[in-house]
Amino acid sequence: NHKKTLEGKTVLITAGPTYEAIDPVRFIGNHSSGKMGFSLAEEASKRGAKVILISGPTSQVMGDKNVDVHKVTSAKEMLQKVFEFYDTIDIGIASAAVADYAPKEIAKEKIKKNDDSLTIELIKNPDILKTMGEKKTHQFLVGFALETQNEEENAKGKLEKKNLDMIVLNSLRDEGAGFKNDTNKIKIFTQTEKKEFELKSKDDVAKDILNFVESQILK
Ligand code: C5P
Repeated sequence: NHKKTLEGKTVLITAGPTYEAIDPVRFIGNHSSGKMGFSLAEEASKRGAKVILISGPTSQVMGDKNVDVHKVTSAKEMLQKVFEFYDTIDIGIASAAVADYAPKEIAKEKIKKNDDSLTIELIKNPDILKTMGEKKTHQFLVGFALETQNEEENAKGKLEKKNLDMIVLNSLRDEGAGFKNDTNKIKIFTQTEKKEFELKSKDDVAKDILNFVESQILK
């Protein structure tokens, strides 16, 4: 009994953290739960969209069999998977917390704790969303920003720099927002608009985000 407001649209969503291997048993990762991306995927699917969810390692379970879930581990794998589908999508939503850096080399064997100090050289990962922005032909692109200072300015800067149509800002200063929580408090920016929302469950935040996307693409 859901209104099929995204019927005929293909939506690609990135979610969760990425894990960057150090050796066969260790990695660099982060605390992203993947909840926001899974909520967005389920809501977009309810609205009739064809949904491709590309997720890093999370404990989230996808309840909707219609969502096409692709599990990846590292940023480079996520980038590759995104571009398998990029030409076919109408809307891209990047909610993944992609690791900014990855170890330059992955040790073949488990690193031994012999020395008192250990240095791991890190190399910048590809920016998946920025690459999507550079290759944009018709896709409507949505990014997320998690900022601790100059939030609005930084969010708007990313909108420009990554060639996005819309950015969702969640502030770490707000109690219950961001990352591991089941709730989120967001502001949405486009080139010309700004809208602030109340603290709510990530399922409800997903509805707000997709309502806003629909208001933009149906303009
Ligand atoms: O630049 P920053 O990491 O703050 O940008 C956040 C936005 O960019 C998020 O939408 C995130 O999913 C995306 N991103 C990405 N690939 C990266 C880094 C960020 O897709 N390597």
